[in-house]
Amino acid sequence: MTVRGASSADIAAVLALLERSALPTDGVAEHLGDFVVAERDGGIAGVAGLERYGDAALLRSVAVAESARGTGLGALLTARALESAAAAGARSVYLLTTTAESYFPRHGFRPADRESVPAAVRESVEFTTACPSSAAVMVLNLEESR
Ligand SMILES: CC(C)(COP(=O)(O)OP(=O)(O)OC[C@H]1O[C@@H](n2cnc3c(N)ncnc32)[C@H](O)[C@@H]1OP(=O)(O)O)[C@@H](O)C(=O)NCCC(=O)NCCS
Repeated sequence: MTVRGASSADIAAVLALLERSALPTDGVAEHLGDFVVAERDGGIAGVAGLERYGDAALLRSVAVAESARGTGLGALLTARALESAAAAGARSVYLLTTTAESYFPRHGFRPADRESVPAAVRESVEFTTACPSSAAVMVLNLEESR
């Protein structure tokens, strides 16, 4: 298993994995350069995406192929994405989820109000169209977690 930055050659496999995982695909192509993937036997077994908005970032598209779940890969990919958010100067990372509200607290995320989300993040495709307004909003303050 290799975890590496995604490249444009990965787009079809990443979109297929997100579709199989019932996650939104809008905006993925635009931000693929800030995604990480886990490669196994020449295929993509997991993905975690980041969208960068100044000193805030959006974590999205965290998905692991069904056959590889429960082995820590989701945690590894999330950690890599958060490391690259910190390295890029992000101070806080937001996410929207309808399926994994009880998964992300183990990575330091806490529930947040939509109103507290910076405007640039709130204007992302994920916030405006891809995710239902009922999705839970969560935040991780990277400065506190260092
Ligand atoms: C959520 C997901 C990425 C986790 O990946 P993973 O590689 O299986 O996770 P890890 O191996 O790091 O962690 C496994 C642990 O997380 C828990 N977990 C997995 N998915 C969960 C979910 N949706 N909600 C709550 N807990 C979850 C498991 O029960 C397990 O708990 P344990 O450590 O107490 O046994 C994977 O289940 C997935 O792709 N789900 C579909 C897509 C999705 O909902 N993504 C999140 C929205 S952005």
